[in-house]
Amino acid sequence: MQYSPKIIYAGYREHRGDSEDDRVQWVSLDIQHHPSIERITDNIPALDVVINNAGYLIPTAADPAEELGNLKVMMDLHLYGPLRLINTVLPLLQRSPRPAIINMISMAAFASVAGCEAYCTSKAALHTATQGLRLKHKHIQCVGVYPGPTATDMTAGSPVALADPWVSAANIVAAVEAGQTSVFPDTAAQAVEALIGDPVRELEARFGGLLSE
Ligand SMILES: NC(=O)c1ccc[n+]([C@@H]2O[C@H](COP(=O)([O-])OP(=O)(O)OC[C@H]3O[C@@H](n4cnc5c(N)ncnc54)[C@H](OP(=O)(O)O)[C@@H]3O)[C@@H](O)[C@H]2O)c1
Repeated sequence: MQYSPKIIYAGYREHRGDSEDDRVQWVSLDIQHHPSIERITDNIPALDVVINNAGYLIPTAADPAEELGNLKVMMDLHLYGPLRLINTVLPLLQRSPRPAIINMISMAAFASVAGCEAYCTSKAALHTATQGLRLKHKHIQCVGVYPGPTATDMTAGSPVALADPWVSAANIVAAVEAGQTSVFPDTAAQAVEALIGDPVRELEARFGGLLSE
């Protein structure tokens, strides 16, 4: 089934984006700031889909104490903030006829990448949390998206091949509309899925029923 959103609530911190789509309504949201999250539903009467997209990659620091601090920042940004936002909008999603939670994770959730180990740790945490959401909210389509390197501000100057974000976005929408719950939207991500996709899904099904067997 295709989505045709009437309103798109787009979160921003300091500067609103430059979208000319008249369905876009800008809402102030800093995913690392609790009150900002808790206020989010004040002016949102209904919601079908929440997308946790905010992310930031802090490269690995040589100093272990600094590295631990960076991990804490990225856990707030990639794990606790998204879970807090989901909790806040859950009553709205529970009233939706077709609710979905979409978490932008990364193919780096499945194995650590040199130079960004703490980032990978935080994305692995969001991956497992997304599996947990699927167990807890069976009536909600809880989707993990696992992109490979993609041409955005995050990868500016990167020497590796980068996926086109518009193509990836279209692939993500099509996969969500098709009812999928794990999405590998580009060539590099699909190579990861070919390696581990089925075993991960099989383990998720097996572990999900472990304590009820
Ligand atoms: N690009 C890649 O290669 C790649 C690969 C795999 C996964 N991802 C994931 O995809 C998602 C999107 O990343 P991107 O590549 O589009 O990166 P990006 O161009 O750097 O955009 C990141 C966005 O996150 C927002 N953000 C950061 N901290 C925030 C906060 N505390 N509250 C609210 N918004 C915040 C930024 O807002 P401001 O404009 O206010 O700074 C920015 O709009 C991230 O979760 C990233 O980890 C990216």
